[in-house]
Amino acid sequence: MSKVRIYTLAKELGVDNHKMLEILDGLGVAYKSVSSTIEEDTVELIKQIVAEEGASVTGGEVAETPAAAPDPAAVAPAAEQREKPAPVPVVEPAPSQMPIEGQPTEAEPVPTEAAPAAPAPAAPAKEIPHRAPVVTIMGHVDHGKTSLLDYIRHTRVAAKEAGGITQHVGAFEAKTSKGKIVFIDTPGHEAFTTIRARGANVADIAIIVIAADDSLMPQTREAIAHAQAAKVPMIVAINKVDLPQADPEKVKTDLTQLNLVPEEYGGDLIVVPVSAKTGEGVEDLLEYISLTAELEDLRADPKGNFGGVIIEGKVDKQAGVLATVMVQEGTLHVGDFLVVGENYGKIKAMTDSNGGRIKEAGPSTPVQILGFSEVPSSGEKVQSAKNEHAAREVIAQRVDVRRDEEDARERRKAQRSLEDIL
Ligand code: GTP
Ligand code: MG
Repeated sequence: MSKVRIYTLAKELGVDNHKMLEILDGLGVAYKSVSSTIEEDTVELIKQIVAEEGASVTGGEVAETPAAAPDPAAVAPAAEQREKPAPVPVVEPAPSQMPIEGQPTEAEPVPTEAAPAAPAPAAPAKEIPHRAPVVTIMGHVDHGKTSLLDYIRHTRVAAKEAGGITQHVGAFEAKTSKGKIVFIDTPGHEAFTTIRARGANVADIAIIVIAADDSLMPQTREAIAHAQAAKVPMIVAINKVDLPQADPEKVKTDLTQLNLVPEEYGGDLIVVPVSAKTGEGVEDLLEYISLTAELEDLRADPKGNFGGVIIEGKVDKQAGVLATVMVQEGTLHVGDFLVVGENYGKIKAMTDSNGGRIKEAGPSTPVQILGFSEVPSSGEKVQSAKNEHAAREVIAQRVDVRRDEEDARERRKAQRSLEDIL
């Protein structure tokens, strides 16, 4: 044994991946992701640190001073909460420019005179519970996106009768060996792009499905570009490896030409060979999803204010207007009033992605809702209102804002044409 993957070592030593990365940060060891490999001597050092830390936690009252203690920085990471590792290089803001929770993070010039010295206290992120990752599946036509999801669904989701109104839901929950994962199937990436165009990001992770017998195709490149633009961590699933003409190596080489270098070639792109037909590699894919999600440290408060996004809206001949909503924050209840754009509705009925009637839904749950009178569009943000009156008030305000903006636009236009004439 020479090199070891970080997550393998974490598992072996019984520490979580975050802890492992903290230790590596402390040691100043560079890594790209939790699946990066580390050298044998580092492994030994880490084992020592973990063993000593374990002893100091569980040991007796007498705190020993270990003679050959490793670098204290390694065991006492400076920051209580690690910055989540970003999939793309980011410029760390200077401490004085740290974004304050809930405010835009654009690097604006900080006014030096009036800047109050007291930094905002860090939000108590540790108290907010974890939520399941939302994974979007993209790729070229026929490369097997839906088949891959079907495989995961059929073998992992308790089989229920495919019933009525959930048949076309593009988002579903899967109970996997790695816990709950929410998947979004995006035909032609439409949902993904329109949702993003409206400024909402529903996906935490993107899976790019590439057929091993076809390699990179126009829509594959598009999908990759979308994921990169959204700054969503990407995992490549090379599908159809069961086919005799499958050539996963060609896919990897082609990816490298796009500057996406698979890990085994020394890059940081996670590439998993799978077959939606035989199920080969699917368990590995789920493992990588859960590892990536763990590093993203996804949290949402089920007790907080409700916030969600429309995944799709449509009219069902029998049921009426149906909207698929992704719950992002808080909890939805049957009977709640929801506001979308300048419309509102009261939830008459709610079903989960398996077609089961539910009364409430917490974060990272896609639900289909009956109760809107107008069809909402993908990507629109949804919020809740205490009652019908409150819902109407929110809408009245929005209408006012919109009219003011329209008026201002008209005035500017008139001004410009006047200037042109003069
Ligand atoms: P669109 O939604 O049209 O973009 O296609 P898709 O990417 O969802 O592909 P889909 O799952 O519909 O699969 C396309 C075809 O490939 C079907 O005939 C599948 O049976 C076949 N297929 C998918 N995955 C595999 C696989 O792993 N092995 C083999 N042999 N065939 C597969
Ligand atoms: Mg499909």
